[in-house]
Amino acid sequence: MSGRISQHFIDDLLARTDVVDVIDSLVPLKKKGANYSACCPFHNEKTPSFTVSQDKQFYHCFGCGVSGSAIGFLMDYSHLDFVEAVEELASRAGVEVVREQGIVNDKPKRDLSPLLQLNEDASQFYQQQLRSHKTSQRASEYLKGRGLSGETAKTFQLGYAPTGWDNLMLALGKTEGSLADLRELGLIVSNDNKKTYDRFRERIMFPIRNKRGQTIGFGGRVMDDAEPKYLNSPETPLFHKGREVYGLFEALKASSKLQRLLLVEGYLDVISLYQQGITNSVAALGTAITREHIDLLFRSVSELVICMDGDSAGQKASWRAIVNALPALRSGRQIKVLSLPVGQDPDSLVRDNGADYFEQLIENATPLSTYFFDYLSNEHSLESMEGRAAMLEQARPLLDTIPAGAFADMMKKQLATVSQLGSSSSKGFSPARGVKTRHQSGKKSPSAIRHLITSVLHEPQLASQIDLDEPWLTVDMPGMEVLKRVLLLAGDGQDISPAVLLERFRGDENERTIKALFAEEKLINGELSEHEFLGAIERLKEQAKKSRLDVLLAKSNDLNEMERTELRELIK
Ligand code: UTP
Ligand code: MN
Repeated sequence: MSGRISQHFIDDLLARTDVVDVIDSLVPLKKKGANYSACCPFHNEKTPSFTVSQDKQFYHCFGCGVSGSAIGFLMDYSHLDFVEAVEELASRAGVEVVREQGIVNDKPKRDLSPLLQLNEDASQFYQQQLRSHKTSQRASEYLKGRGLSGETAKTFQLGYAPTGWDNLMLALGKTEGSLADLRELGLIVSNDNKKTYDRFRERIMFPIRNKRGQTIGFGGRVMDDAEPKYLNSPETPLFHKGREVYGLFEALKASSKLQRLLLVEGYLDVISLYQQGITNSVAALGTAITREHIDLLFRSVSELVICMDGDSAGQKASWRAIVNALPALRSGRQIKVLSLPVGQDPDSLVRDNGADYFEQLIENATPLSTYFFDYLSNEHSLESMEGRAAMLEQARPLLDTIPAGAFADMMKKQLATVSQLGSSSSKGFSPARGVKTRHQSGKKSPSAIRHLITSVLHEPQLASQIDLDEPWLTVDMPGMEVLKRVLLLAGDGQDISPAVLLERFRGDENERTIKALFAEEKLINGELSEHEFLGAIERLKEQAKKSRLDVLLAKSNDLNEMERTELRELIK
Protein backbone atom coordinates (compact mmCIF):
# COMPACT_ATOMS: atom_id res chain seq x y z
CA MET A 1 0.00 0.00 0.00
CA SER A 2 1.29 3.42 -0.79
CA GLY A 3 0.50 6.26 1.56
CA ARG A 4 -2.58 8.37 1.68
CA ILE A 5 -2.48 11.51 -0.37
CA SER A 6 -1.37 14.18 2.06
CA GLN A 7 -3.82 16.87 3.10
CA HIS A 8 -1.11 19.38 2.51
CA PHE A 9 -0.80 18.29 -1.08
CA ILE A 10 -4.54 18.55 -1.62
CA ASP A 11 -4.61 22.06 -0.16
CA ASP A 12 -1.77 23.00 -2.42
CA LEU A 13 -3.25 21.37 -5.49
CA LEU A 14 -6.52 23.21 -5.02
CA ALA A 15 -4.63 26.44 -4.60
CA ARG A 16 -2.99 25.88 -8.00
CA THR A 17 -6.22 24.86 -9.64
CA ASP A 18 -8.96 27.13 -10.89
CA VAL A 19 -12.30 25.39 -10.57
CA VAL A 20 -13.63 27.64 -13.36
CA ASP A 21 -11.06 26.24 -15.84
CA VAL A 22 -11.68 22.68 -14.78
CA ILE A 23 -15.43 22.87 -15.14
CA ASP A 24 -15.32 25.06 -18.24
CA SER A 25 -13.23 22.42 -20.03
CA LEU A 26 -16.07 19.94 -19.54
CA VAL A 27 -19.18 22.11 -19.31
CA PRO A 28 -18.81 25.49 -21.02
CA LEU A 29 -19.50 28.31 -18.56
CA LYS A 30 -20.79 31.83 -19.07
CA LYS A 31 -19.75 34.74 -16.91
CA LYS A 32 -22.67 36.08 -14.93
CA GLY A 33 -21.97 38.83 -12.44
CA ALA A 34 -19.23 37.79 -10.08
CA ASN A 35 -19.79 34.12 -10.88
CA TYR A 36 -19.99 31.75 -13.82
CA SER A 37 -23.00 29.71 -14.76
CA ALA A 38 -24.33 26.96 -17.00
CA CYS A 39 -27.24 24.57 -17.25
CA CYS A 40 -26.62 22.02 -14.56
CA PRO A 41 -24.87 18.89 -15.85
CA PHE A 42 -26.36 16.84 -13.01
CA HIS A 43 -30.04 17.38 -13.68
CA ASN A 44 -32.26 18.40 -16.58
CA GLU A 45 -32.99 22.09 -16.81
CA LYS A 46 -33.65 24.78 -19.39
CA THR A 47 -32.44 27.82 -17.51
CA PRO A 48 -29.04 27.78 -15.86
CA SER A 49 -28.98 27.40 -12.09
CA PHE A 50 -25.54 25.86 -11.88
CA THR A 51 -23.12 28.42 -10.46
CA VAL A 52 -19.35 28.39 -10.17
CA SER A 53 -17.66 30.82 -7.82
CA GLN A 54 -14.10 31.74 -8.67
CA ASP A 55 -13.60 33.46 -5.32
CA LYS A 56 -14.67 30.51 -3.30
CA GLN A 57 -13.47 27.91 -5.77
CA PHE A 58 -16.57 25.82 -5.65
CA TYR A 59 -19.69 25.07 -7.63
CA HIS A 60 -23.27 24.85 -6.56
CA CYS A 61 -26.56 24.13 -8.28
CA PHE A 62 -29.54 26.02 -6.92
CA GLY A 63 -31.78 23.58 -8.74
CA CYS A 64 -30.64 20.20 -7.50
CA GLY A 65 -28.35 21.14 -4.63
CA VAL A 66 -25.06 19.57 -5.76
CA SER A 67 -21.96 21.39 -4.68
CA GLY A 68 -18.28 20.86 -4.19
CA SER A 69 -14.71 21.67 -5.12
CA ALA A 70 -12.88 20.92 -8.36
CA ILE A 71 -12.13 17.47 -6.94
CA GLY A 72 -15.80 16.85 -6.22
CA PHE A 73 -16.75 17.98 -9.71
CA LEU A 74 -14.40 15.54 -11.41
CA MET A 75 -15.62 12.74 -9.16
CA ASP A 76 -19.23 13.36 -9.99
CA TYR A 77 -19.03 14.50 -13.59
CA SER A 78 -16.29 12.20 -14.86
CA HIS A 79 -17.18 9.28 -12.57
CA LEU A 80 -13.76 9.23 -10.96
CA ASP A 81 -12.96 8.11 -7.47
CA PHE A 82 -11.20 10.49 -5.12
CA VAL A 83 -7.67 9.38 -5.95
CA GLU A 84 -8.35 9.44 -9.68
CA ALA A 85 -9.77 12.95 -9.42
CA VAL A 86 -6.72 14.16 -7.51
CA GLU A 87 -4.46 12.51 -10.07
CA GLU A 88 -6.35 14.18 -12.89
CA LEU A 89 -6.00 17.62 -11.31
CA ALA A 90 -2.34 16.98 -10.58
CA SER A 91 -1.67 16.09 -14.18
CA ARG A 92 -3.52 19.21 -15.33
CA ALA A 93 -1.36 21.24 -12.96
CA GLY A 94 1.78 19.37 -14.04
CA VAL A 95 2.69 18.15 -10.55
CA GLU A 96 3.32 14.74 -9.01
CA VAL A 97 0.91 13.46 -6.36
CA VAL A 98 2.55 13.57 -2.94
CA ARG A 99 1.64 10.87 -0.48
CA GLU A 100 2.11 10.77 3.26
CA GLN A 101 5.36 9.11 4.26
CA GLY A 102 4.14 7.42 7.43
CA ILE A 103 6.25 4.49 8.58
CA VAL A 104 3.39 2.07 8.01
CA ASN A 105 2.64 3.45 4.61
CA ASP A 106 6.17 3.82 3.47
CA LYS A 107 6.30 0.60 1.47
CA PRO A 108 6.47 1.07 -2.25
CA LYS A 109 3.22 0.26 -4.04
CA ARG A 110 3.06 -3.42 -4.83
CA ASP A 111 3.01 -4.35 -8.48
CA LEU A 112 -0.05 -6.53 -8.89
CA SER A 113 0.42 -7.27 -12.56
CA PRO A 114 1.95 -10.76 -12.05
CA LEU A 115 -1.12 -11.78 -10.03
CA LEU A 116 -3.45 -10.34 -12.66
CA GLN A 117 -1.59 -12.17 -15.38
CA LEU A 118 -1.77 -15.44 -13.48
CA ASN A 119 -5.51 -15.08 -12.94
CA GLU A 120 -5.87 -14.39 -16.64
CA ASP A 121 -3.84 -17.52 -17.42
CA ALA A 122 -6.04 -19.54 -15.08
CA SER A 123 -9.14 -18.19 -16.80
CA GLN A 124 -7.72 -19.18 -20.19
CA PHE A 125 -6.85 -22.58 -18.77
CA TYR A 126 -10.41 -23.22 -17.55
CA GLN A 127 -11.87 -22.05 -20.86
CA GLN A 128 -9.52 -24.34 -22.69
CA GLN A 129 -10.59 -27.26 -20.48
CA LEU A 130 -14.23 -26.58 -21.26
CA ARG A 131 -13.44 -26.97 -24.94
CA SER A 132 -11.09 -29.92 -24.82
CA HIS A 133 -10.72 -31.82 -21.55
CA LYS A 134 -11.73 -35.45 -21.87
CA THR A 135 -14.45 -35.05 -19.23
CA SER A 136 -15.64 -31.67 -20.49
CA GLN A 137 -18.76 -33.07 -22.06
CA ARG A 138 -20.44 -33.15 -18.68
CA ALA A 139 -19.77 -29.43 -18.30
CA SER A 140 -21.05 -28.45 -21.72
CA GLU A 141 -24.11 -30.63 -21.20
CA TYR A 142 -24.73 -28.87 -17.92
CA LEU A 143 -24.53 -25.43 -19.54
CA LYS A 144 -26.79 -26.52 -22.37
CA GLY A 145 -29.22 -27.90 -19.80
CA ARG A 146 -29.27 -24.44 -18.24
CA GLY A 147 -30.22 -23.03 -21.61
CA LEU A 148 -26.94 -21.25 -22.28
CA SER A 149 -25.49 -20.92 -25.76
CA GLY A 150 -21.86 -21.26 -26.72
CA GLU A 151 -21.82 -17.58 -27.56
CA THR A 152 -22.99 -16.61 -24.08
CA ALA A 153 -20.39 -18.91 -22.54
CA LYS A 154 -17.79 -17.11 -24.60
CA THR A 155 -18.99 -13.62 -23.63
CA PHE A 156 -18.67 -14.51 -19.97
CA GLN A 157 -15.51 -16.58 -20.54
CA LEU A 158 -17.08 -19.55 -18.80
CA GLY A 159 -14.73 -22.42 -18.12
CA TYR A 160 -14.42 -25.82 -16.59
CA ALA A 161 -12.21 -27.00 -13.73
CA PRO A 162 -11.83 -30.69 -14.51
CA THR A 163 -11.89 -33.68 -12.21
CA GLY A 164 -8.60 -34.24 -10.44
CA TRP A 165 -6.56 -32.60 -7.70
CA ASP A 166 -3.82 -30.76 -9.54
CA ASN A 167 -4.76 -29.91 -13.12
CA LEU A 168 -4.28 -26.20 -12.65
CA MET A 169 -1.28 -26.58 -10.38
CA LEU A 170 0.55 -28.69 -12.96
CA ALA A 171 -0.31 -26.31 -15.77
CA LEU A 172 0.54 -23.01 -14.08
CA GLY A 173 2.60 -23.76 -10.97
CA LYS A 174 5.88 -24.57 -12.65
CA THR A 175 8.11 -22.51 -10.35
CA GLU A 176 8.24 -21.76 -6.62
CA GLY A 177 7.21 -18.21 -7.44
CA SER A 178 4.18 -19.17 -9.44
CA LEU A 179 3.10 -21.67 -6.78
CA ALA A 180 3.28 -18.93 -4.19
CA ASP A 181 1.23 -16.65 -6.44
CA LEU A 182 -1.37 -19.37 -7.11
CA ARG A 183 -1.66 -19.81 -3.37
CA GLU A 184 -2.07 -16.07 -2.80
CA LEU A 185 -4.83 -16.02 -5.43
CA GLY A 186 -6.57 -18.88 -3.63
CA LEU A 187 -6.34 -21.08 -6.71
CA ILE A 188 -4.43 -23.72 -4.82
CA VAL A 189 -4.77 -24.57 -1.13
CA SER A 190 -3.01 -26.85 1.37
CA ASN A 191 -4.60 -29.09 3.95
CA ASP A 192 -3.38 -29.91 7.47
CA ASN A 193 -1.11 -32.62 6.13
CA LYS A 194 0.65 -30.06 3.94
CA LYS A 195 -0.86 -31.60 0.85
CA THR A 196 -1.46 -28.97 -1.82
CA TYR A 197 -4.23 -29.15 -4.40
CA ASP A 198 -6.47 -27.13 -6.70
CA ARG A 199 -9.26 -25.20 -4.98
CA PHE A 200 -11.65 -25.60 -7.90
CA ARG A 201 -12.30 -29.16 -9.02
CA GLU A 202 -15.12 -30.48 -11.12
CA ARG A 203 -16.87 -27.18 -11.34
CA ILE A 204 -18.17 -24.76 -13.95
CA MET A 205 -15.95 -21.71 -13.68
CA PHE A 206 -17.18 -18.11 -13.70
CA PRO A 207 -14.32 -15.62 -14.01
CA ILE A 208 -15.13 -12.43 -12.10
CA ARG A 209 -13.86 -9.35 -13.89
CA ASN A 210 -13.54 -5.83 -12.61
CA LYS A 211 -14.82 -2.78 -14.44
CA ARG A 212 -11.72 -2.75 -16.60
CA GLY A 213 -12.07 -6.38 -17.63
CA GLN A 214 -9.24 -7.75 -15.51
CA THR A 215 -9.93 -11.17 -14.00
CA ILE A 216 -9.80 -10.66 -10.26
CA GLY A 217 -11.37 -13.87 -8.97
CA PHE A 218 -13.55 -16.86 -9.73
CA GLY A 219 -16.78 -18.51 -8.77
CA GLY A 220 -17.15 -22.23 -9.38
CA ARG A 221 -20.44 -24.14 -9.47
CA VAL A 222 -20.97 -27.86 -8.99
CA MET A 223 -22.86 -29.67 -11.72
CA ASP A 224 -25.10 -31.62 -9.38
CA ASP A 225 -26.60 -31.14 -5.93
CA ALA A 226 -23.31 -31.35 -4.06
CA GLU A 227 -22.45 -28.76 -1.42
CA PRO A 228 -21.34 -26.11 -1.44
CA LYS A 229 -23.13 -25.12 -4.63
CA TYR A 230 -20.70 -22.32 -5.31
CA LEU A 231 -17.13 -21.93 -4.24
CA ASN A 232 -15.60 -18.49 -4.64
CA SER A 233 -12.11 -17.06 -4.55
CA PRO A 234 -11.15 -15.91 -1.07
CA GLU A 235 -10.28 -12.28 -0.38
CA THR A 236 -6.97 -11.66 -2.14
CA PRO A 237 -4.96 -8.57 -3.04
CA LEU A 238 -7.04 -8.47 -6.23
CA PHE A 239 -10.43 -9.52 -4.98
CA HIS A 240 -12.67 -7.88 -2.37
CA LYS A 241 -16.18 -9.26 -2.37
CA GLY A 242 -17.62 -6.25 -0.63
CA ARG A 243 -16.42 -3.93 -3.36
CA GLU A 244 -16.91 -5.83 -6.59
CA VAL A 245 -19.88 -7.09 -8.52
CA TYR A 246 -20.22 -9.76 -11.16
CA GLY A 247 -21.07 -8.70 -14.70
CA LEU A 248 -20.27 -4.98 -14.66
CA PHE A 249 -17.59 -5.20 -17.32
CA GLU A 250 -19.89 -7.17 -19.61
CA ALA A 251 -22.79 -4.76 -19.02
CA LEU A 252 -20.67 -1.69 -19.75
CA LYS A 253 -19.26 -3.34 -22.85
CA ALA A 254 -22.72 -4.21 -24.16
CA SER A 255 -23.94 -0.63 -24.15
CA SER A 256 -22.06 2.60 -24.41
CA LYS A 257 -24.91 4.63 -22.96
CA LEU A 258 -25.91 2.66 -19.96
CA GLN A 259 -28.46 4.47 -17.77
CA ARG A 260 -29.68 1.75 -15.50
CA LEU A 261 -28.29 -1.37 -13.86
CA LEU A 262 -30.22 -4.24 -12.33
CA LEU A 263 -28.77 -5.69 -9.19
CA VAL A 264 -29.62 -9.41 -9.04
CA GLU A 265 -28.58 -12.27 -6.80
CA GLY A 266 -26.66 -14.82 -8.81
CA TYR A 267 -24.07 -15.40 -11.49
CA LEU A 268 -26.57 -17.34 -13.55
CA ASP A 269 -29.18 -14.63 -13.28
CA VAL A 270 -26.78 -12.17 -14.87
CA ILE A 271 -25.80 -14.56 -17.62
CA SER A 272 -29.27 -15.79 -18.41
CA LEU A 273 -30.69 -12.25 -18.59
CA TYR A 274 -27.82 -11.27 -20.85
CA GLN A 275 -28.54 -14.08 -23.24
CA GLN A 276 -32.15 -12.95 -23.46
CA GLY A 277 -31.02 -9.47 -24.41
CA ILE A 278 -31.18 -7.85 -20.98
CA THR A 279 -27.53 -6.99 -20.83
CA ASN A 280 -27.51 -4.57 -17.93
CA SER A 281 -27.53 -6.71 -14.82
CA VAL A 282 -24.87 -7.32 -12.19
CA ALA A 283 -24.75 -9.54 -9.11
CA ALA A 284 -23.28 -9.01 -5.67
CA LEU A 285 -20.99 -11.92 -4.98
CA GLY A 286 -23.05 -13.85 -2.46
CA THR A 287 -22.65 -11.08 0.12
CA ALA A 288 -24.83 -8.28 1.37
CA ILE A 289 -24.93 -5.23 -0.86
CA THR A 290 -22.60 -2.61 0.56
CA ARG A 291 -22.26 1.13 0.21
CA GLU A 292 -19.14 0.43 -1.83
CA HIS A 293 -21.11 -1.69 -4.28
CA ILE A 294 -23.65 1.09 -4.64
CA ASP A 295 -20.97 3.74 -5.17
CA LEU A 296 -19.30 1.57 -7.77
CA LEU A 297 -22.54 1.21 -9.71
CA PHE A 298 -23.57 4.86 -9.42
CA ARG A 299 -20.27 5.81 -10.98
CA SER A 300 -21.53 4.18 -14.17
CA VAL A 301 -25.29 4.80 -14.16
CA SER A 302 -27.87 7.01 -12.49
CA GLU A 303 -30.52 4.37 -11.82
CA LEU A 304 -30.33 1.09 -9.94
CA VAL A 305 -33.06 -1.51 -9.74
CA ILE A 306 -32.60 -3.95 -6.89
CA CYS A 307 -34.12 -7.29 -7.93
CA MET A 308 -34.29 -9.71 -5.08
CA ASP A 309 -36.34 -12.75 -4.21
CA GLY A 310 -39.82 -12.10 -2.88
CA ASP A 311 -39.14 -14.41 0.09
CA SER A 312 -38.28 -12.99 3.44
CA ALA A 313 -34.52 -13.47 3.05
CA GLY A 314 -34.66 -11.60 -0.25
CA GLN A 315 -36.72 -8.82 1.26
CA LYS A 316 -34.28 -8.44 4.14
CA ALA A 317 -31.48 -8.23 1.61
CA SER A 318 -33.32 -5.52 -0.35
CA TRP A 319 -33.94 -3.49 2.78
CA ARG A 320 -30.33 -3.72 3.86
CA ALA A 321 -29.23 -2.70 0.41
CA ILE A 322 -31.49 0.31 0.56
CA VAL A 323 -30.31 1.35 3.98
CA ASN A 324 -26.73 1.21 2.73
CA ALA A 325 -27.66 3.13 -0.39
CA LEU A 326 -29.42 6.10 1.24
CA PRO A 327 -26.24 8.15 1.72
CA ALA A 328 -25.46 7.75 -1.98
CA LEU A 329 -28.79 9.22 -3.09
CA ARG A 330 -27.68 12.54 -4.45
CA SER A 331 -30.13 14.29 -6.65
CA GLY A 332 -30.27 12.77 -10.11
CA ARG A 333 -29.76 9.28 -8.75
CA GLN A 334 -32.59 6.83 -8.38
CA ILE A 335 -33.15 3.45 -6.83
CA LYS A 336 -36.09 1.13 -7.42
CA VAL A 337 -36.94 -2.22 -5.96
CA LEU A 338 -38.36 -5.20 -7.78
CA SER A 339 -39.54 -8.00 -5.52
CA LEU A 340 -39.78 -11.16 -7.55
CA PRO A 341 -42.53 -13.73 -7.08
CA VAL A 342 -41.53 -16.16 -4.31
CA GLY A 343 -39.64 -19.14 -5.69
CA GLN A 344 -38.60 -17.35 -8.89
CA ASP A 345 -35.32 -15.75 -9.79
CA PRO A 346 -34.51 -13.58 -12.81
CA ASP A 347 -33.07 -16.61 -14.56
CA SER A 348 -36.24 -18.67 -14.27
CA LEU A 349 -38.52 -15.69 -14.90
CA VAL A 350 -36.85 -14.60 -18.09
CA ARG A 351 -36.62 -18.14 -19.41
CA ASP A 352 -40.27 -18.90 -18.65
CA ASN A 353 -41.77 -15.59 -19.75
CA GLY A 354 -39.30 -13.90 -22.07
CA ALA A 355 -37.44 -10.61 -22.03
CA ASP A 356 -40.42 -8.35 -22.72
CA TYR A 357 -42.21 -9.60 -19.67
CA PHE A 358 -39.15 -9.07 -17.54
CA GLU A 359 -38.59 -5.56 -18.94
CA GLN A 360 -42.18 -4.83 -18.01
CA LEU A 361 -41.51 -5.88 -14.43
CA ILE A 362 -38.49 -3.58 -14.36
CA GLU A 363 -40.51 -0.66 -15.70
CA ASN A 364 -43.02 -1.17 -12.92
CA ALA A 365 -40.49 -1.57 -10.14
CA THR A 366 -41.32 0.20 -6.89
CA PRO A 367 -39.61 3.56 -6.28
CA LEU A 368 -37.42 3.57 -3.21
CA SER A 369 -39.64 6.14 -1.47
CA THR A 370 -42.68 3.86 -1.70
CA TYR A 371 -40.71 0.77 -0.82
CA PHE A 372 -39.21 2.47 2.22
CA PHE A 373 -42.52 3.38 3.78
CA ASP A 374 -44.23 0.13 2.77
CA TYR A 375 -41.49 -1.84 4.43
CA LEU A 376 -41.69 0.17 7.64
CA SER A 377 -45.48 -0.07 7.74
CA ASN A 378 -45.13 -3.83 7.61
CA GLU A 379 -42.54 -3.85 10.36
CA HIS A 380 -44.52 -1.68 12.76
CA SER A 381 -48.16 -1.53 13.62
CA LEU A 382 -49.13 1.99 12.70
CA GLU A 383 -52.49 1.64 14.43
CA SER A 384 -50.98 2.44 17.79
CA MET A 385 -49.00 5.42 18.92
CA GLU A 386 -46.34 3.00 20.21
CA GLY A 387 -46.00 1.45 16.77
CA ARG A 388 -45.75 4.81 15.08
CA ALA A 389 -43.16 5.97 17.59
CA ALA A 390 -41.09 2.84 16.97
CA MET A 391 -41.30 3.47 13.25
CA LEU A 392 -40.18 7.06 13.70
CA GLU A 393 -37.25 5.94 15.80
CA GLN A 394 -36.15 3.55 13.09
CA ALA A 395 -36.76 5.84 10.13
CA ARG A 396 -35.44 9.17 11.34
CA PRO A 397 -31.75 8.29 11.58
CA LEU A 398 -31.98 6.55 8.23
CA LEU A 399 -33.49 9.56 6.49
CA ASP A 400 -30.83 11.73 8.08
CA THR A 401 -28.25 9.86 6.02
CA ILE A 402 -29.75 11.03 2.71
CA PRO A 403 -27.74 13.95 1.31
CA ALA A 404 -29.49 17.27 1.86
CA GLY A 405 -31.79 18.23 -0.98
CA ALA A 406 -35.32 18.01 -2.26
CA PHE A 407 -35.52 14.22 -1.98
CA ALA A 408 -34.41 14.20 1.65
CA ASP A 409 -36.93 16.93 2.44
CA MET A 410 -39.75 15.06 0.80
CA MET A 411 -38.91 11.80 2.54
CA LYS A 412 -38.90 13.59 5.88
CA LYS A 413 -42.23 15.20 5.12
CA GLN A 414 -43.64 11.85 4.17
CA LEU A 415 -42.37 10.36 7.41
CA ALA A 416 -44.15 13.07 9.34
CA THR A 417 -47.36 12.34 7.44
CA VAL A 418 -47.10 8.58 7.81
CA SER A 419 -46.43 8.84 11.51
CA GLN A 420 -49.12 11.53 11.88
CA LEU A 421 -46.75 14.00 13.42
CA GLY A 422 -47.47 17.72 13.36
CA SER A 423 -45.02 19.20 10.88
CA SER A 424 -43.92 21.85 13.38
CA SER A 425 -42.11 19.36 15.57
CA SER A 426 -39.69 18.32 12.89
CA LYS A 427 -37.85 21.63 12.73
CA GLY A 428 -34.44 21.93 14.31
CA PHE A 429 -30.90 22.71 13.51
CA SER A 430 -31.03 20.47 10.49
CA PRO A 431 -29.15 19.97 8.26
CA ALA A 432 -26.74 19.64 11.15
CA ARG A 433 -27.21 16.08 12.22
CA GLY A 434 -25.49 14.97 15.37
CA VAL A 435 -26.14 18.46 16.47
CA LYS A 436 -29.82 18.48 17.08
CA THR A 437 -29.69 15.31 19.15
CA ARG A 438 -28.38 17.12 22.16
CA HIS A 439 -31.06 19.73 22.60
CA GLN A 440 -30.29 21.03 26.02
CA SER A 441 -33.37 22.13 27.90
CA GLY A 442 -34.68 23.13 24.49
CA LYS A 443 -34.25 26.87 24.63
CA LYS A 444 -30.95 27.70 22.96
CA SER A 445 -31.26 29.34 19.61
CA PRO A 446 -28.82 27.65 17.30
CA SER A 447 -28.70 30.57 14.93
CA ALA A 448 -25.61 32.25 16.37
CA ILE A 449 -23.57 29.07 16.13
CA ARG A 450 -24.89 28.37 12.70
CA HIS A 451 -23.97 31.87 11.64
CA LEU A 452 -20.43 31.39 12.86
CA ILE A 453 -20.04 28.04 11.15
CA THR A 454 -21.27 29.26 7.80
CA SER A 455 -19.25 32.46 8.08
CA VAL A 456 -16.01 30.58 8.62
CA LEU A 457 -16.87 28.14 5.85
CA HIS A 458 -17.32 30.98 3.43
CA GLU A 459 -14.46 33.12 4.71
CA PRO A 460 -11.97 30.78 6.33
CA GLN A 461 -9.71 33.64 7.45
CA LEU A 462 -12.39 34.60 9.99
CA ALA A 463 -11.25 31.52 11.93
CA SER A 464 -8.27 33.52 13.14
CA GLN A 465 -10.63 35.73 15.13
CA ILE A 466 -11.68 32.90 17.43
CA ASP A 467 -9.22 31.30 19.77
CA LEU A 468 -9.82 27.57 20.28
CA ASP A 469 -9.17 28.03 24.01
CA GLU A 470 -12.02 30.46 24.56
CA PRO A 471 -14.15 29.23 27.46
CA TRP A 472 -17.44 29.64 25.64
CA LEU A 473 -16.33 26.97 23.18
CA THR A 474 -16.53 24.36 25.93
CA VAL A 475 -20.23 24.82 26.56
CA ASP A 476 -22.35 21.88 25.54
CA MET A 477 -24.90 23.18 23.06
CA PRO A 478 -26.20 22.11 19.66
CA GLY A 479 -23.71 22.81 16.93
CA MET A 480 -20.74 23.47 19.21
CA GLU A 481 -18.90 20.32 18.20
CA VAL A 482 -19.31 21.18 14.54
CA LEU A 483 -18.11 24.73 15.09
CA LYS A 484 -14.99 23.50 16.88
CA ARG A 485 -14.27 21.05 14.12
CA VAL A 486 -14.60 23.81 11.54
CA LEU A 487 -12.24 26.06 13.49
CA LEU A 488 -9.77 23.24 13.92
CA LEU A 489 -9.73 22.28 10.25
CA ALA A 490 -9.63 25.90 9.12
CA GLY A 491 -6.49 26.53 11.18
CA ASP A 492 -5.74 30.21 10.93
CA GLY A 493 -7.64 30.21 7.64
CA GLN A 494 -5.05 32.35 5.92
CA ASP A 495 -4.74 31.90 2.17
CA ILE A 496 -7.20 29.09 1.89
CA SER A 497 -10.33 29.14 -0.22
CA PRO A 498 -13.64 27.77 1.01
CA ALA A 499 -13.13 24.85 -1.38
CA VAL A 500 -9.91 23.90 0.40
CA LEU A 501 -11.72 23.94 3.71
CA LEU A 502 -14.53 21.88 2.23
CA GLU A 503 -12.04 19.28 0.99
CA ARG A 504 -10.52 19.02 4.46
CA PHE A 505 -13.89 17.67 5.58
CA ARG A 506 -13.86 14.80 3.11
CA GLY A 507 -14.43 11.61 5.12
CA ASP A 508 -15.07 13.60 8.30
CA GLU A 509 -18.15 12.63 10.28
CA ASN A 510 -19.45 16.17 9.74
CA GLU A 511 -18.89 16.18 5.99
CA ARG A 512 -22.55 16.13 5.06
CA THR A 513 -23.52 18.82 7.52
CA ILE A 514 -20.74 21.02 6.28
CA LYS A 515 -21.71 20.58 2.65
CA ALA A 516 -25.29 21.48 3.39
CA LEU A 517 -24.32 24.60 5.33
CA PHE A 518 -21.96 25.57 2.55
CA ALA A 519 -24.71 25.48 0.03
CA GLU A 520 -26.83 28.14 1.68
CA GLU A 521 -28.01 30.30 -1.11
CA LYS A 522 -27.69 33.72 0.43
CA LEU A 523 -24.12 33.07 1.43
CA ILE A 524 -23.02 31.94 -1.96
CA ASN A 525 -23.93 35.22 -3.55
CA GLY A 526 -24.17 37.45 -0.55
CA GLU A 527 -21.65 39.42 1.40
CA LEU A 528 -20.64 38.59 4.93
CA SER A 529 -20.61 41.32 7.46
CA GLU A 530 -17.88 41.33 10.02
CA HIS A 531 -20.18 43.19 12.34
CA GLU A 532 -22.68 40.34 12.28
CA PHE A 533 -19.92 37.83 12.77
CA LEU A 534 -18.68 39.57 15.91
CA GLY A 535 -22.28 40.00 17.03
CA ALA A 536 -22.80 36.27 16.78
CA ILE A 537 -19.76 35.64 18.97
CA GLU A 538 -21.15 38.02 21.57
CA ARG A 539 -24.49 36.27 21.50
CA LEU A 540 -22.79 32.94 21.98
CA LYS A 541 -20.82 34.22 24.92
CA GLU A 542 -24.10 35.30 26.47
CA GLN A 543 -25.67 31.92 25.78
CA ALA A 544 -22.64 30.19 27.22
CA LYS A 545 -22.93 32.23 30.40
CA LYS A 546 -26.61 31.44 30.71
CA SER A 547 -26.11 27.76 30.27
CA ARG A 548 -23.27 27.75 32.79
CA LEU A 549 -25.58 29.61 35.15
CA ASP A 550 -28.23 26.92 34.66
CA VAL A 551 -25.74 24.25 35.56
CA LEU A 552 -24.58 26.03 38.69
CA LEU A 553 -28.08 26.90 39.81
CA ALA A 554 -29.21 23.34 39.32
CA LYS A 555 -26.73 22.15 41.89
CA SER A 556 -26.71 25.28 43.99
CA ASN A 557 -26.88 23.35 47.27
CA ASP A 558 -23.80 21.48 46.35
CA LEU A 559 -21.22 24.00 45.16
CA ASN A 560 -17.58 24.27 46.09
CA GLU A 561 -15.88 27.54 46.86
CA MET A 562 -14.75 28.25 43.31
CA GLU A 563 -18.14 27.48 41.88
CA ARG A 564 -19.83 29.78 44.40
CA THR A 565 -17.56 32.62 43.34
CA GLU A 566 -18.26 31.87 39.73
CA LEU A 567 -21.99 31.88 40.38
CA ARG A 568 -21.81 35.24 42.09
CA GLU A 569 -19.87 36.66 39.16
CA LEU A 570 -22.38 35.32 36.69
CA ILE A 571 -25.36 36.67 38.54
CA LYS A 572 -23.83 40.12 38.47
P1 UTP B 1 -28.24 -18.73 -5.80
O1 UTP B 1 -28.34 -20.02 -5.06
O2 UTP B 1 -29.49 -17.94 -6.02
O3 UTP B 1 -27.45 -18.99 -7.12
O4 UTP B 1 -27.19 -17.86 -5.05
P2 UTP B 1 -27.80 -18.87 -8.66
O5 UTP B 1 -26.78 -17.98 -9.28
O6 UTP B 1 -29.22 -18.58 -8.91
O7 UTP B 1 -27.41 -20.31 -9.14
P3 UTP B 1 -28.29 -21.47 -9.68
O8 UTP B 1 -29.37 -20.88 -10.51
O9 UTP B 1 -28.81 -22.25 -8.52
O10 UTP B 1 -27.30 -22.24 -10.45
C1 UTP B 1 -26.94 -16.53 -5.43
C2 UTP B 1 -25.48 -16.23 -5.37
O11 UTP B 1 -25.00 -16.46 -4.06
C3 UTP B 1 -23.67 -16.93 -4.10
C4 UTP B 1 -23.28 -16.98 -5.56
O12 UTP B 1 -22.66 -15.74 -5.89
C5 UTP B 1 -24.62 -17.11 -6.25
O13 UTP B 1 -24.60 -16.70 -7.60
N1 UTP B 1 -23.55 -18.28 -3.51
C6 UTP B 1 -24.61 -19.14 -3.47
C7 UTP B 1 -22.34 -18.69 -3.01
O14 UTP B 1 -21.37 -17.92 -3.03
N2 UTP B 1 -22.21 -19.93 -2.48
C8 UTP B 1 -23.24 -20.83 -2.45
O15 UTP B 1 -23.05 -21.99 -2.00
C9 UTP B 1 -24.48 -20.41 -2.94
MN1 MN C 1 -30.80 -19.51 -9.94
